[in-house]
Amino acid sequence: MTEQDFIPKAYPKRLNNGNVTWSSPSNIALVKYWGKKEHQIPENPSISFTLNHCKTLTTLSYTKKEHSDSFSFDVFLNGEQKDDFKPKIETFFKRVEDYLPFLKDYHFKIETSNTFPHSSGIASSASGMSALALCLVSIEIELRDVSLSTVEKSFFNKKASFLARLGSGSACRSIEGDLIVWGTHKEIEGSSDLFGVKYPYEVHANFKNYQDTILLVDKGEKQVSSTIGHNLMHHHPFASRRFEQAHENMSKLINIFKNGDVDAFVKIVESEALTLHAMMMTSMPYFILMKPNTLEIINEIWAYRNETNSKVCFTLDAGANVHVLYPENEKDTVIEFIKTNLVAYCQNGHYISDQIGFGAQQLVSEN
Ligand code: PMV
Repeated sequence: MTEQDFIPKAYPKRLNNGNVTWSSPSNIALVKYWGKKEHQIPENPSISFTLNHCKTLTTLSYTKKEHSDSFSFDVFLNGEQKDDFKPKIETFFKRVEDYLPFLKDYHFKIETSNTFPHSSGIASSASGMSALALCLVSIEIELRDVSLSTVEKSFFNKKASFLARLGSGSACRSIEGDLIVWGTHKEIEGSSDLFGVKYPYEVHANFKNYQDTILLVDKGEKQVSSTIGHNLMHHHPFASRRFEQAHENMSKLINIFKNGDVDAFVKIVESEALTLHAMMMTSMPYFILMKPNTLEIINEIWAYRNETNSKVCFTLDAGANVHVLYPENEKDTVIEFIKTNLVAYCQNGHYISDQIGFGAQQLVSEN
């Protein structure tokens, strides 16, 4: 598919007003996306677990305007008007206008809330942008006056992911569950730089209901935005080797998912997390997003793994928080380990227990 496939023909139906609501999850990458070309095209393929509890709930209300000359919208977070969110959404609208030509015909009210605290250091851009993209594609389905056949549903998911990508790259992996690939990889059929797709091959039972406990080490604002970080991969001395390595790690994961080799999984996942942060530390300018407690937690996890037969491991986002990943059959023991050994390193003792989930859900729709 190409970008052109997402440009619609004239809409047959007229709509005056209505609303749609979607709940969309966050995701955690196993092979990381870090570095992009123009138009949010990733430099390398990535793969993520879709989360089950960390979600954004967005209601998009639309009212037909008299003049279609500019974008018009208001944004609310937990019922409170958030004008500081508007520039990011305005940029998003500009990027997607060709693919959603009705955007200037309506005034939109965007009402959003997260199941996790806004200032938790958990990026809400993946769940937030995917929820908004899903709402917009739902309105388009109404305007196109089609029902969601299997073919239409597949196109719907691709278009929602395609649009979410233009809002925030990793958001394109937040439409479906439970294992999502984004970025063309030669061994993964259907993989695309334009949108995320469900991982199409066999996944061993060892990876079903995989657990993710997010340790909130630092709830502050990120010192370096991911946009700046991605840009620092241009002219980065290790960039091209890093992009090749991501392809290699994706290939290795295909076998690991098939034969259920959790030890090999742990090695790739932890190496990917440290490589992401190594890229930050070796860019120019260089920066460090880990905090002392991030390292304390990593060392505790390694010590615990050495002492026990546990398969617990960690991964990191572009921040100081630690995602602790472990198989479902270790749920009780690892939670106990987290409570006794790791909670002390979390800001105000805060952590969030989550697990791999099944993707976004539409809740209500009125028109
Ligand atoms: O979606 P962005 O542009 O905020 O990039 C996020 C990239 C990482 O979270 C660091 C890695 C990933 O693949 O999700």
